[in-house]
Amino acid sequence: MEKTLVLIKPDAVQRGLVGEIISRLENRGLKLVAGKYLTVTREFAETHYAAHVGKPFYNGLVEYISASPLMALVVEGPEAIQAVRQTMGKTNPLEADPGTIRHDLAIITSKNLTHASDSLESAEKEIMLWFSDNEIFEWYRDSDPWFFKKN
Ligand code: CMP
Repeated sequence: MEKTLVLIKPDAVQRGLVGEIISRLENRGLKLVAGKYLTVTREFAETHYAAHVGKPFYNGLVEYISASPLMALVVEGPEAIQAVRQTMGKTNPLEADPGTIRHDLAIITSKNLTHASDSLESAEKEIMLWFSDNEIFEWYRDSDPWFFKKN
């Protein structure tokens, strides 16, 4: 089953939206297989966002993500990468579809509440950066067939 990294960013934690965001992922059928609450260093944030070095928003982005605690998750499900990004909506909340987290709960790109891996390759890389193998739990959820089993 596909796994992807989700960050519930500091703005979402400060605004008390952790439960709301996790609920939306769980309600969709996505299964949490890892989670931790931490404040990252500037250096760690720079590694995570290395692909954005040189962009005008890079320094602000690193500052934002390392400013206060965030919640990092690994979620699993069929086509989890696509499903999570769809549930989050477009990067710019003003372009996100109604019903998505970013549309419903955010208004500007630089406070867009969440991050999700954008490809299989980045999901693998990001999960390895944020979690060690023994922090990822493979578990059977009794409701899995009601979410995932094809008829
Ligand atoms: P995320 O999905 O974490 O991926 C990169 C992040 O950079 C993005 O969410 C936003 O938080 C941020 N970002 C992307 N584009 C801009 C922008 N134009 N201005 C400010 N922040 C941005």
